[in-house]
Amino acid sequence: MKEKIIINDVGPRDGLQNQEKILTPQERVALIEKLIEAGVRHIEVGAFVSPKAVPAMAGTDLVAAQLPVSDSSGEPFGFSALIPNRKGYDLARAAGINTMGLVIAASNTMNEKNVRMTTEQALAVCEDVLAQAKCDGANVVAYVATAWECPFEGIADEQAVIEITGKLFDYGASEVILADTIGAASPGQVKSLMTKLVAAYGAEKLSCHFHDTRGMGVADVYAAVECGIRKFDASIGGLGGCPFAPGASGNVATEDVVLMLNQMGFDTGIDLLKLSAAADLAAELTGNCDGGHAGRWIKRQIEKAAG
Ligand code: COA
Ligand code: ZN
Repeated sequence: MKEKIIINDVGPRDGLQNQEKILTPQERVALIEKLIEAGVRHIEVGAFVSPKAVPAMAGTDLVAAQLPVSDSSGEPFGFSALIPNRKGYDLARAAGINTMGLVIAASNTMNEKNVRMTTEQALAVCEDVLAQAKCDGANVVAYVATAWECPFEGIADEQAVIEITGKLFDYGASEVILADTIGAASPGQVKSLMTKLVAAYGAEKLSCHFHDTRGMGVADVYAAVECGIRKFDASIGGLGGCPFAPGASGNVATEDVVLMLNQMGFDTGIDLLKLSAAADLAAELTGNCDGGHAGRWIKRQIEKAAG
């Protein structure tokens, strides 16, 4: 039996939030459906954030209303949505989202730019939302953005990241996702931080989110796999970027991560050839998606299979 690794495709959120072309809820649903067809079972479908702050994520409730509950075998999908505060939590719950992804950054300036709160205020919001989630029996995971480097404050302090992660677990987060929001981490830095976090909190409650800004996204995933991490965010076609973090470019592409993990002998449950169709749709809809590094190689396999 191959060991499983869960891929959470964040293309419909991180991938679309900063696009010049704003997609309709229907187009966003079409992209999600293509990911499902490829075997992706965990998808970040949008964000419940201020529509003034991020216009591309308006209408996530309309997206959520059109999502299937489970696949043909009855296996429920893991749909999540990003939330910055209590209002986002309430809206996501009302929209029937199973998992809310609460976001906080490791640095104070990034919190001020992203959610207009200091780190202290953002932590208080996290504590409040997680307490409410406990009462409601709702599943909330937490993102630590700029966990390796902040575009304003530079290299992150590992100890501060470890402490914020610990607080989020104390407040009740079921999982913490360490995010390299601007794609600045190297595999060595990933190994350093993740080794400490795994020792402190256990690999099964941690996940990683990398961007490919400097071409090290897949190498960073590899480093985290070596530390025991078995859950990763990635974005179809390598779409992605944060409007509030200068220099952030696309996420590590789902097709690149899946290809590497398949070749390493892990089971992602994802069909690479069908994933290619999802990447094509992402490119068609946004007009701004080059696809992953492995895209051309995958296309050649499709041509070969077709004879
Ligand atoms: N969803 C929808 N609307 C929200 C909201 C949410 N989660 N939180 C606040 N709002 C609305 C308020 O109702 C208010 O609306 P109004 O102007 O019509 O009265 C408006 O947004 C401003 O509310 P306020 O509480 O003053 O927020 P703010 O202006 O200080 O902004 C955030 C704070 C967190 C709402 C905003 O910065 C945000 O949405 N950030 C998200 C950033 C993001 O998605 N980054 C990329 C991913 S990491
Ligand atoms: Zn991101």
